[in-house]
Parts: sequence; C-alpha cells; structure tokens
Amino acid sequence: MRQKIVAGNWKMNLTKSESIALLNDINASKHAENVQMIVFPPAVYLNTLSELNARCALGAQNFHPAEQGAFTGENSVLQVQDAGAEYVLVGHSERRMYFQESEEFLKDKVDAALAHGLKVIFCCGEPLSIRELEHQNEFVNKQLEESLFHLPAAMMQKVVVAYEPIWAIGTGKTASSAQAENMHAAIREMIATKYDQDLANQISILYGGSCNGTNAKELFACANVDGGLIGGASLKTADFLTIANSF
Ligand code: 13P
Repeated sequence: MRQKIVAGNWKMNLTKSESIALLNDINASKHAENVQMIVFPPAVYLNTLSELNARCALGAQNFHPAEQGAFTGENSVLQVQDAGAEYVLVGHSERRMYFQESEEFLKDKVDAALAHGLKVIFCCGEPLSIRELEHQNEFVNKQLEESLFHLPAAMMQKVVVAYEPIWAIGTGKTASSAQAENMHAAIREMIATKYDQDLANQISILYGGSCNGTNAKELFACANVDGGLIGGASLKTADFLTIANSF
C-alpha cells in the first residue's frame, strides 16, 4: 500500500497568527488516520509552528543545498530542518520559473535534502504549450531524468513525486481525472523503466493544480493518484480537510 498524502503549499501567504490558527484548526479536526497531512508554511514560521507539535507534518517550500555560507537571504538545508521541516519541496514550477532554478541546482537540492534525512516531494509538470503539442510525457520524463533519476534505488524510494501541470496551477483549471491518471501512470512507468516495477509501485505520486474540495474525490479515485499537493485550497481549514477526507 502506498502512503496517501495531502500536502498544503501555503506559498507566500498568511501572517504568523493566521499560520498558527490554521495549523491548530487542522490539528484539532478529524481526519483520516491513514492520510499523511503535511503543510509547507513560509519558512519564517517553521520554528513557531514546530512548537505546536501538530499531527500534521511540516515542510519547507525552499532551501539552499549548502549547509552554510555566504548566500544572503537564503535558508540552508540544515537550517530548515533545524526549524522543524521534515519534508521539502524541490522543483516547484514557481521556483523554476521565477527564481531560475536549473535542473542541475534541483539535483543538488534533491541530494542535499536526502543526505540530511529530509523527505523530498519532487515537482514536475508541463506548461500549456507543451500540453497542446501532446509532448507532456517527454517533457516530464526529461525533468525526472535531469534532477531525480541519478539517485540510487535506495534513495529514490524515499522520494514522493508531485505532478503539477503548470496550466492548472492557480488557474482554477484542473486536469481531468483521465489526464491526471494518464500522466501518473506514465510517471510510474518511467520510474519502473529506470529502476523496477516494485520500486515504482511504492512511490506516492501526488496531483497538484487547482485541486479542491469538489474535484479531489474524483482525482483521488484514480489508481495512480496517491494524494494531492494543494495551493489555494489549503489556506482554508474546511477545504483542506475536505480534500484530506476525499480518499
Ligand atoms: P493551486 O492549488 O493553487 O492551483 O496550486 C497548486 C500548487 O502549486 C501546489 O504546489
């Protein structure tokens, strides 16, 4: 059985008090025991939120792969872990697009996170122009080849993959359950081809891109969709919990 995961990427939203209230609300609510809930708050609040000892795990949206050094404004892999992150996001399209994170840099982030025992959620996904050409599988395979598939099997086993089609992020447009399932099955096949079927069967693959309380049930019913990485809808307790209870 693959781990079911519902993760909230809060992005650059919420104040400290709003973050505390949201995590407390999530923690106080009933949610399925068999679903791993994770939230990715702004890094400046990780430390405070870690003191709430919530059942919901914490993750860092970003980090620098070096442990320390002259990188003004950055938080190191060691620092986000020290502040309470158990998970990290790597390869989010917003980091690739707005902060020019290259495949090589993402590879370094994957390696640094795993070397420190952090769990990696590796994001991949195509822009609309690629989807229109129906080249999405090749595009995603290249992203995995460039920044993830260098890992030995023992390390790859610890990775969660999130498929986030860029055209569905923050747009209200969701991939249909058929589009999501096709891509998730293709990603599992890519992992099986690179490693083996057993390992591919163990890896959780999350869907991200306007996943909400209304469409989560249908998406999560797909054989290869093991949960979601949620943006906007993770900022409201009720919506996030509806999603977490959609399996
Ligand atoms: P939305 O759910 O707001 O589309 O964001 C998805 C996302 O980018 C999660 O990482």
